[in-house]
Amino acid sequence: MSYLNKKTVSDINVSEKTVFIRCDFNVPFDEFGNIADTKRIDESLTTIKYLLKQNAKVILCSHLGRPKGEFNKKYSLQPVAKYLSKVLGQEVKMANDVIGVSAKSLAASLKNGEILLLENVRFSPEEEKNSPEFAKELASLAEIYVNDAFGTAHRKHASTVGIASYLPAVSGFLIDKELKVMGKALTDPKRPFVAILGGAKVSDKIGVINNLLQKVDTLIIGGGMAYTFMNALGYSIGESICEVDKITLARDIMVKAKEQDVKFLVPVDNKVGIEYKSDTEYKVVESDSIPEGWMGLDIGPKTEKLFAQALEGAGTIVWNGPMGVSEWENFASGTLAVAKAVAESGAISIVGGGDSAAAVEKLGYSDKMTHISTGGGASLMFLEGKELPGIAVLEDKD
Ligand code: 3PG
Repeated sequence: MSYLNKKTVSDINVSEKTVFIRCDFNVPFDEFGNIADTKRIDESLTTIKYLLKQNAKVILCSHLGRPKGEFNKKYSLQPVAKYLSKVLGQEVKMANDVIGVSAKSLAASLKNGEILLLENVRFSPEEEKNSPEFAKELASLAEIYVNDAFGTAHRKHASTVGIASYLPAVSGFLIDKELKVMGKALTDPKRPFVAILGGAKVSDKIGVINNLLQKVDTLIIGGGMAYTFMNALGYSIGESICEVDKITLARDIMVKAKEQDVKFLVPVDNKVGIEYKSDTEYKVVESDSIPEGWMGLDIGPKTEKLFAQALEGAGTIVWNGPMGVSEWENFASGTLAVAKAVAESGAISIVGGGDSAAAVEKLGYSDKMTHISTGGGASLMFLEGKELPGIAVLEDKD
């Protein structure tokens, strides 16, 4: 993949230059309006601190949520400016617009070693349309463009793609790390290479499954999507979620796995409930005999052991997606068991964003993982082997 050779911020002279960094500060908030998980901000600090040390003038840009092209206080980046000021130990100025009077005057008056955060770039409808005029206006604020928003690199927007037409464009350290770790797993993995995929739908993961089937030694399927595979195997799956139009595809995938000598594992037992409710009555049943009126909501204890054994001795593990409805206590055990097994495997372990990353955090296993991606949709697209638009536009190393 050509984008493993992208220039980074350390390949160019940034000293005393005005540098525009596209970050992904799309972080969750709790009911009191506090940032609930600062990981994405914390991971971007390496690039920001490096630029400050180089005496650059730093302009930060990000989206937050999906405000549909108009100002909405709920999606203001003010709390992020406050948090950044605290962790950087210096004032982070906050513009109250994106390319308006406030942004332009604050950008023009920035001194070396100072930082400015623009207001949510998605308050402008031109952002998501990748408007060239808007991209040019963003670019006019700075001399260099740095993309460090891995989580948004799959979006073709003005601040992730368009702007690179007007400025020298390189990656930040966060993107560089994501590309190196995940890129190595896909191109030159330490073997055995095991992938664990979960989540509700096969349709969300078809691209990933097809790409990984060419590369892995073992493919483990859990979560809601496993029931489509079980249906394809002829098992009765009761009321479990099943994508009827993907049953043939699931069968083809299993045939392909066999042809390519890939060990393919689906759950052998399941925790099933009567209703899709956190406190539903539940029991454990074998995969080939889920009774009518019951639905699979998590993998069962035998499967937890089977999957953990398959991870023992792995050289590389890629994990994306929960094994059950992990946000419900009664159905979180499968995801937690996998998190534990991955953490204890000693393998190079890569966890995709979203629920699997949250499970790892919750268990306190984050430090035991080699890499937890800051990207949800972006890491999936990367694992599909596709080119991410926000990375493709960055300059190659000479
Ligand atoms: C994410 O959270 O996956 C990224 O920030 C991208 O957000 P989006 O799906 O709203 O484009």
